[in-house]
Amino acid sequence: MGRKWKVVSVLVSLLATVAMITSCAGPTPSPTPTVSSPTPTVSSPTSPPPEVNALTVYHWWTSGGEKAAIDALIKVYATKYPDAAIMQTPVTGGAGFTMMGIIKTLVLAGDAPDAFQMHAGYEGKPYFDAGLLDPIDNLWKEEGLEAVIPEVVRHMCQFDGHYYSVPVNIHRVNVVWYNKSLLDKNGIDPTTLTTWDAFFAACDKLKAGGVQYPIQMGEAWTAAHAFEQIMASMGIDFYQDLINGKITSADDPKLSQALEIFKKYLGYVNPDHAALTWDDATKRIITGDGAFNIMGDWANGEFYVAKMTYGEDYGTFAVPGTKGMYGLCIDVFQHPKGVKHPTNSLGWLKVVASKEGQDAFNPIKGSIAARTDADISKYGPYQQAAITDFKGAQYMFPSVVHGSGAPESFKVKLSDIISGFTTDLDVNKAAQALTSYTKEISGEYTIQWSLK
Ligand code: BGC
Repeated sequence: MGRKWKVVSVLVSLLATVAMITSCAGPTPSPTPTVSSPTPTVSSPTSPPPEVNALTVYHWWTSGGEKAAIDALIKVYATKYPDAAIMQTPVTGGAGFTMMGIIKTLVLAGDAPDAFQMHAGYEGKPYFDAGLLDPIDNLWKEEGLEAVIPEVVRHMCQFDGHYYSVPVNIHRVNVVWYNKSLLDKNGIDPTTLTTWDAFFAACDKLKAGGVQYPIQMGEAWTAAHAFEQIMASMGIDFYQDLINGKITSADDPKLSQALEIFKKYLGYVNPDHAALTWDDATKRIITGDGAFNIMGDWANGEFYVAKMTYGEDYGTFAVPGTKGMYGLCIDVFQHPKGVKHPTNSLGWLKVVASKEGQDAFNPIKGSIAARTDADISKYGPYQQAAITDFKGAQYMFPSVVHGSGAPESFKVKLSDIISGFTTDLDVNKAAQALTSYTKEISGEYTIQWSLK
């Protein structure tokens, strides 16, 4: 396969994050005082109250394509469990930046929803460390998941060798989406855009042809998303060092180079980016207001909603410098401790992990299934190509912005720093901030990634 994937969990707990998560939990309850009642009570058997037949699901799938996809998954669940009342709570805000704060509060208050969306890898680690998740090894066994989920994904669903989540998909993050008629009109062959120089030359051509802002970008996290792909284009060794917390010198030549490339990139970007959601930015490629958008392949769902045809109206290529690399963003669900409807929560996980569930959700979502036995005929041409690319990828790398590759605090900091960079364009300042933060949280890098 020419590729090895290993995640070694170091036996150091995420002390800082656990401290953070437990310190928010409030005081430990004091022992319940005993009250002697005047009249003796007849002791009833202490069986728990019967489980109400409901399922609460939190997710951040609110764009047109995302909503259609989660609705299709919910429909599969509703068909299998027709008597369960399903209560969805969609939380606006791409990449989960908003929802994660809400979920933390609910979980710490002992009010965890029966199911909530999260990313594989680091994102679940604070919950695991604080003992807030149930292991689901049995479910993996009963559903025969090890036989159909690729190794790379299996590893990302585990902590300390046990399964704590099930994946619903595999998204690719290092994708450039383009408007085909704009490229055709300006004589640009997308297959030649494999280097940043070629890409920027194409942007110059588009500008000369009257496309004022060839690249469309959205709010802060989408800037961090684009920058992450530029960092991946610096090579797998650099990216591996980054996610292992080893880029600690502000003079690191590859870090400076990545920031310089991003600075140039920003010169072609719509100035109103901070006010746009990711799907607003993607829509501008659909309408032809811009030619390029770096985004994960959830963007494909928006092209579907707009009834665009892949290869005719729009197309994709790997972010320059990342051909043969597959940047991973994996949505998962887990079994939080103490949920109100544990049976339905497990039923949801089974549907999420099932072939039927994944083949209903992913063809609409833009992702590929996390299962190797997916019915490929249900997937569009972009996804069929993605399945081939996934199988043949030389290197895979877990996204930081999408919760997997690095500790959550780094993900949040990266987004803040890059958001600042989009206005001050200060390479040295951003390099200093990123590397000094990496040093500050060095104890939080408890996963050692081996991507080669
Ligand atoms: C999620 C995708 C979602 C995207 C935009 C990513 O972090 O993994 O499922 O579509 O964010 O919100």
